[in-house]
Amino acid sequence: MNKLLTTLLFSSILISTLFSTSYGQNQNCSAFAFRNNQIFATCNALPLLNSVLHWSYHPDNHTVDLAYRHGGVPNTDWVAWGLNIDGTRMVGSQCLVAFRNSSGEIHAYTSPVSSYGTQLAEGALSFNVPRIGAEYSNNEFIIFATLELPAGRTNFNQAWQNGAVSGQALTAHVQSGDNMRSFGSVDFANGELGGGGSSVTSRQRRRNVHGVLNAVSWGVLMPMGAVFARYLKVFKAANPAWFYIHVACQTSAYIVGVAGWGTGLKLGSDSTGIEFTTHRNIGITLFCLGTLQVFALLLRPKPDHKYRLYWNIYHHAVGYAVISLAIANVFEGFDALNGQKNWKRAYTGVIIAIGAIAVLLEAFTWFIVIKRKKTDSNKHTQNGTNGTVNPYGNGTHQQA
Ligand SMILES: *[C@@H]1O[C@H](CO)[C@@H](O)[C@H](O)[C@H]1NC(C)=O
Ligand SMILES: *[C@@H]1O[C@H](CO)[C@@H](O)[C@H](O)[C@H]1NC(C)=O
Ligand SMILES: *[C@@H]1O[C@H](CO)[C@@H](O)[C@H](O)[C@H]1NC(C)=O
Repeated sequence: MNKLLTTLLFSSILISTLFSTSYGQNQNCSAFAFRNNQIFATCNALPLLNSVLHWSYHPDNHTVDLAYRHGGVPNTDWVAWGLNIDGTRMVGSQCLVAFRNSSGEIHAYTSPVSSYGTQLAEGALSFNVPRIGAEYSNNEFIIFATLELPAGRTNFNQAWQNGAVSGQALTAHVQSGDNMRSFGSVDFANGELGGGGSSVTSRQRRRNVHGVLNAVSWGVLMPMGAVFARYLKVFKAANPAWFYIHVACQTSAYIVGVAGWGTGLKLGSDSTGIEFTTHRNIGITLFCLGTLQVFALLLRPKPDHKYRLYWNIYHHAVGYAVISLAIANVFEGFDALNGQKNWKRAYTGVIIAIGAIAVLLEAFTWFIVIKRKKTDSNKHTQNGTNGTVNPYGNGTHQQA
């Protein structure tokens, strides 16, 4: 039994180490200092073509102030970045374009792309762009703009590109390699980026996986395991069984929970700059306390050992702390996802159900225990039982 637990524990630690190594390998775009000292709340390195997107999203007026940096290009290139509102990739994208024009100045303008043969002619976009400007230095173009985003969404497909300027004409970009894969998606509200080819739905799926893994493990299995331990223990017939059910519940919850925790770290590392700080900190605390509980299981003293009482107090305190934090963090997670109201309702329902079952079992247990004490004291009337009726203090912690 202990060997199995040790193996499980160390494989969980291994998994989480793998996840945390990939965490933090992202380019640190927040260290970039703009010449005009502009500060953006969020930044994300685009996966290809030396490009980085910085932005601040203002939910109250649904606008975004952004800077698009495209490095490693000569000043005889043009660069463009755009949102594609209804489609993916190039055709249909609403672009911001910059190049050095014949007067030697960096010219920035908007251009809706309607076909593959586009010359990136100036034109109004399908949404308002109240401000646009650009600069070039250190082989890097930077386009600054403010976009009034289309109503009702913050998640868009995006594409970015560069190509050569020949005379007055913006010629087509390279038709191979990275230039054919420089598209993806961006969510201005939560900072997440979908890499080349990864669509909005695949990222949503990853978030859902994270949510389901953690809600089920930390949020449902762990409280259930505690309910089993607390209420089955009272029944003599369930004596070793409750312990195994409890351990099975908590270890499987822990293992699934660690996997869910890893997906959370990965989601966090994929959206540099946007931080759900509370959710993340509670998550890390949970991982530590959960791991401590598993270790504590391996180190618990024998039932009749004089320190067992302290161990029990410790185990219950940490256990209840983990469960309370876990439930709170599942709700934090729903809030971070804003818009998953049905999930929140479903989870609230499950928690209320578990709570109600616990209350009923609590009442039932006291009933049983009091009855049992009465029968016992009737059997050996003058036996001087000290009268305390605590259903849980009666040493039924067994020895498995
Ligand atoms: C990124 O750079 C910012 C600003 O210099 C710094 O505060 C932050 O700690 C850095 N983050 C990482 C992960 O290096
Ligand atoms: C939108 O709101 C932000 C602050 O919430 C403000 O700084 C910005 O100027 C506003 N933008 C527009 C275009 O109204
Ligand atoms: C070059 O771009 C600048 C800045 O946008 C603009 O003021 C100027 O008129 C442009 N020159 C030509 C020849 O188009």
